[in-house]
Amino acid sequence: MRSVLVVLAILCMAAAAHAQSAASFAFVLWGEDVDGKPVAMARAVVEHATSCPVLQRASGAWQQMTPRQRPPDGHFRDVLVCETLYPFGEAGAVLVGVRRLELPVVTPATPRRVLVMGDSGCRGDLPEKPQPCTGDGFTKVWPFGVIAEDEQRSAADLIVHVGDYNYRNTPRDMVLSPRVTGYDRPLTVKVYDTGDLDDEDVPEVPIGAGYWSQNMQGSPVPDTWVAWRDDFFMPAARLMKTAPWLLVRGNHELCSRAGPGWYYLLDPASALLRRDEGQQSCWPQTPPGWRLGAWPKPPALPFEGQPFPIHIRAPMRIKLGELDIIALDSANAGDAYLYNLDAFVGQFQQVAAMLAERRPTWLVTHRPFWGVVKRIKGVPVGSGPYGFINVTQQVALAKVFPNGLPSNVTAVLAGHMHRFQAIGFGDRRPPQLIVGTAGIILSHVQPVPPSPDDKQPILVPKLDGIDAEVVGLMDHGAMMLEPGKAGAWTGAMVSETGRILATCDSSWPRRNRSQSVCRLQ
Ligand SMILES: [Fe+2]
Repeated sequence: MRSVLVVLAILCMAAAAHAQSAASFAFVLWGEDVDGKPVAMARAVVEHATSCPVLQRASGAWQQMTPRQRPPDGHFRDVLVCETLYPFGEAGAVLVGVRRLELPVVTPATPRRVLVMGDSGCRGDLPEKPQPCTGDGFTKVWPFGVIAEDEQRSAADLIVHVGDYNYRNTPRDMVLSPRVTGYDRPLTVKVYDTGDLDDEDVPEVPIGAGYWSQNMQGSPVPDTWVAWRDDFFMPAARLMKTAPWLLVRGNHELCSRAGPGWYYLLDPASALLRRDEGQQSCWPQTPPGWRLGAWPKPPALPFEGQPFPIHIRAPMRIKLGELDIIALDSANAGDAYLYNLDAFVGQFQQVAAMLAERRPTWLVTHRPFWGVVKRIKGVPVGSGPYGFINVTQQVALAKVFPNGLPSNVTAVLAGHMHRFQAIGFGDRRPPQLIVGTAGIILSHVQPVPPSPDDKQPILVPKLDGIDAEVVGLMDHGAMMLEPGKAGAWTGAMVSETGRILATCDSSWPRRNRSQSVCRLQ
């Protein structure tokens, strides 16, 4: 009898050890039901699980979670993603074995404090601009861990992530072995991105010449759960307990890059919602007729002469009390080259219909509408030293809103550029904030100030036709915004260590044409 008890005890200890070694995460995210009706969903992400956990509500009620559809290629076989509707006004917890993953109280009221961040991933030990991602724990190694662990950010009741979560497994090129291609020697190819012209490397043009996907059959670097776990879920785990998330896709989450994981793990589209689309996924990334080890003779280009297997989701609007937030999927909008224009005209037509309700609205887009970059990186105008992105969204906006965005748009929030940039347009356009500063190695300030200590706004003439007052920083951090009346807001850019780097007020540009929307401290 005694030996049986000992065996049982060992088995229990082994089960507990397994439960603790397998990582598990839970978070709440916003989705749109219909007509902007906000729906909170709890999602659980559990390693090595074969069945979904339950959600325990504070009231004592239990809800079984249901599995999301896994990408078919096997690279997410070690993780199970489950979800359920999440109640308003009541905390909850996801129970995974012996672990209890606490979740916040959520209400559909106007948020009081909104944490805005973007571009949180870590690049890794690449030959150019290396950024170590491993070593002394994520809280010390790269800034996202430090930002996510900072207690001050717990005050937010909404977290907006503007995209680019996964850098460590989204390389620009890959080497395909003869086993994959059937060719005599290895083949180096560029992974498809829809033009990424913010960074400080040599511009890569033209875009769209070939669609090579990390997720094609035989790829040496398919999108994997482990990269998602280490680049986003591990460092974000503490923040997941504090507030619901509004999640936007970046170009690192294109279907040719970390798209399969995005649609499985984070995308708000869900079978739980009454919208028609249900859970979304990437189209097959291997060209029809291409067989492993017997590819068409070089120089064959995948998907040549046919539509690339990209996916663009419809805009999502979340009505939170007095404030609407519209999330745009701009991952496929070419920065300095018109690309997928028709798709974005269609997107903005849907946005126009939403804005016709005249409710105060913030627009969230991964690629900024109006980014100031180096002259060689964007679309130059006149003889100024600047280039401008994102031309695809600018042209689409001009077609749909010939008189500019309506005045009920009171902020444009974006990332993509690895720097802080805040822009005021007087009373002619809503101000724009760019905060691609939560983790990835940074780019230099644009526009370049006359001296390093100069904190005054810089006049940038004719930024997409309208003079702009711009301030910028090359610091890691995230923004905390406080919504006010009628869509107005104040806020601050807060460094990774909690220092206020800039204060901001949506009313400043309107009150004084020569002010930007933020002041550097
Ligand atoms: Fe980006």
